[in-house]
Amino acid sequence: MTNRSWGFILLVLSAIVLNLDAFELRKGQKTERISGSAGDVLEDDPVGRLKVFVYELPSKYNKKILQKDPRCLNHMFAAEIYMHRFLLSSPVRTLNPEEADWFYTPVYTTCDLTPNGLPLPFKSPRMMRSAIQLISSNWPYWNRTEGADHFFIVPHDFGACFHYQEEKAIERGILPLLQRATLVQTFGQRNHVCLKEGSITVPPYAPPQKMQSHLIPPSIPRSIFVYFRGLFYDVGNDPEGGYYARGARAAVWENFKDNPLFDISTEHPTTYYEDMQRAVFCLCPLGWAPWSPRLVEAVIFGCIPVIIADDIVLPFADAIPWEDIGVYVDEKDVPNLDTILTSIPTEVILRKQRLLANPSMKQAMLFPHPAQSGDAFHQILNGLARKLPHDKSVYLRKGEKVLNWTAGPLADLKPW
Ligand SMILES: *[C@@H]1O[C@H](CO)[C@@H](O)[C@H](O)[C@H]1NC(C)=O
Ligand SMILES: *[C@@H]1O[C@H](CO)[C@@H](O)[C@H](O)[C@H]1NC(C)=O
Repeated sequence: MTNRSWGFILLVLSAIVLNLDAFELRKGQKTERISGSAGDVLEDDPVGRLKVFVYELPSKYNKKILQKDPRCLNHMFAAEIYMHRFLLSSPVRTLNPEEADWFYTPVYTTCDLTPNGLPLPFKSPRMMRSAIQLISSNWPYWNRTEGADHFFIVPHDFGACFHYQEEKAIERGILPLLQRATLVQTFGQRNHVCLKEGSITVPPYAPPQKMQSHLIPPSIPRSIFVYFRGLFYDVGNDPEGGYYARGARAAVWENFKDNPLFDISTEHPTTYYEDMQRAVFCLCPLGWAPWSPRLVEAVIFGCIPVIIADDIVLPFADAIPWEDIGVYVDEKDVPNLDTILTSIPTEVILRKQRLLANPSMKQAMLFPHPAQSGDAFHQILNGLARKLPHDKSVYLRKGEKVLNWTAGPLADLKPW
């Protein structure tokens, strides 16, 4: 199909979308329920289905760290902070550890940013180890299961592998002391040493108020076909090329930089959020990790996410039918991206847009303060509730030890 005729179809598409929006304003229901697969569970209420005990730790594990660098509050790893605040006043919290189903240790291991704002996970293992030492000697609950009824928020690039370079992360593996715990993490990739079975994959943190303040009227037509802003190459960290994004972003640029259907560039305009609301498809390619905040932004702004990250495990994938909402493109098929996207039938596009317009879908991607029903906090609790009751086998015999406290790199064993 020529680009000219696509221009025409886009016009028609926008007109249809516009009509539907007008319809919504009148009837308030242009959206489509997310059902089928496990979609309905997005609306589950976790209250009454689990009780969480929050360990009280010295503030050097959480509040003091945040005081030192308040930028952590707006960082894409901020879920560890907001989840703590949420749980403190959540109705699922119990002050009686004897009746708890889950134990939560509030450590802000990712709040260590360089002057440029890059998070460094080098101290995280020592800090985590120190916190676990503390809870295991002051309370009897850790030793009972060696963490199997404990959950930890580890939103770093490669979760509890605590490194931002994939090879190093793989080499390190999941911190030995966390091997029985449930990990709540942003990182999700099938068959990867940094994603253990039973983990809960969550969206990265994207500031809800800021996104809210950039909303434009839904009647504005989506006149951009494909939108992307971000790096194509990371020359600083990958001078030869090919490692960064496994070459997928480079392939996007090399194949489509001159294609008028593709609005792609490295420049981040001030109208970034508005532009996403004017686009039909938003590219969500892997970077150093398979995920990025683009996925959350695409959902919030109703732009169909085009997921280019082989084997990615998306947030709350047991509750959200991502295949119906987004488009998956294999990394090797990036050179055919134009054909793949232009051959999607209009009615399929419109259905995806209606699913994206579902408020419960958007809500599940956000960590708002104050919390709201169905938001990412509630989805995490739902995920924990679905793992109950714990299997009897998680409880160890008196004196039985499974974990090896001295395993892992020597440097991780130094006191924190
Ligand atoms: C848990 O086990 C460790 C040894 O592995 C021990 O040092 C600690 O005192 C135990 N905690 C409690 C509360 O008994
Ligand atoms: C624990 O790990 C250390 C370091 O890898 C190893 O030397 C030691 O033998 C391990 N202990 C047990 C009981 O497996």
